[in-house]
Amino acid sequence: MNKYLVIGNPIDHSLSPKLHNYWINQNKIDAEYKKLMVNSENLKDIIDRLKKGEITGVNVTVPYKNEIIKHLDNLTKESQETFSVNTIFKKEDKIVGHNTDIAGFELAIRHSKQNLKNKKVLLLGAGGVSPSIVFALKKFEVNEIIICNRTLSKAKELKKKFNYIKIIEWGEQCDFDVAINATSLGLKENDFININYNNEGKEKFFYDVIYNPKETNFLKQAKKNFHRTENGIMMFIYQAHQAFTIWHNLMPEIDENVISIIND
Ligand code: ATR
Repeated sequence: MNKYLVIGNPIDHSLSPKLHNYWINQNKIDAEYKKLMVNSENLKDIIDRLKKGEITGVNVTVPYKNEIIKHLDNLTKESQETFSVNTIFKKEDKIVGHNTDIAGFELAIRHSKQNLKNKKVLLLGAGGVSPSIVFALKKFEVNEIIICNRTLSKAKELKKKFNYIKIIEWGEQCDFDVAINATSLGLKENDFININYNNEGKEKFFYDVIYNPKETNFLKQAKKNFHRTENGIMMFIYQAHQAFTIWHNLMPEIDENVISIIND
């Protein structure tokens, strides 16, 4: 039986096992997918187990998407460009790191039928997922990407990789067509992000990477002001879909059941 893992810290909240095991069963694959809480010291051991064939594939989540890289043999173009790995597999005895968050975000935006071309985008957060979003936004040919992060130095780090982004300070206001929340603010009920939600006669698009809760205060506030909103559920499903396709060499179905599993 092939073994798959999602590693991170914390990991309890991860819904990846639910989703992958659903597809594994649906496609009658002899495999199992588990979650494992790890510390930095365990990362090398995980990769050694992949080398030995004890594990077939690994998903990586917060906070190791960058730190795992030093243990890998090869990186795909997507992970090289973003310094971020969320999917690992073995190819011709080499351990390869790939990034499916980029495609996850891109497909989620296409699924929501938003046209981001020439739009002015405000991206909140400069954490683990932000480089993937910046990379995907560039592909959509947005007009401008403005990063706003509580810790300014982290936004500046991101600018070293993507010199075309602009930075504003946390709490500073700016004009935008699209606002994306890539912070963890919204996971708690009272979390609130202080940006301009006013409509001013212009319908904007608000996207939240968070999918649990389904509607953060960020999205609630946007909806109240008659903007279009979307949560992160499809991004989560599509990034998993990409990883599943690589590991099992087949495309699982994204049906109503899949969505209800995550929403339960
Ligand atoms: P990491 O930054 O460790 O990779 P993450 O979950 O990927 O973790 O990112 C968390 C993001 O949410 C960061 O942008 C973080 O801002 P900082 O860089 O200043 O830490 C942001 N964040 C978390 N809690 C926040 C809060 N209370 N207010 C504002 N931003 C917050």
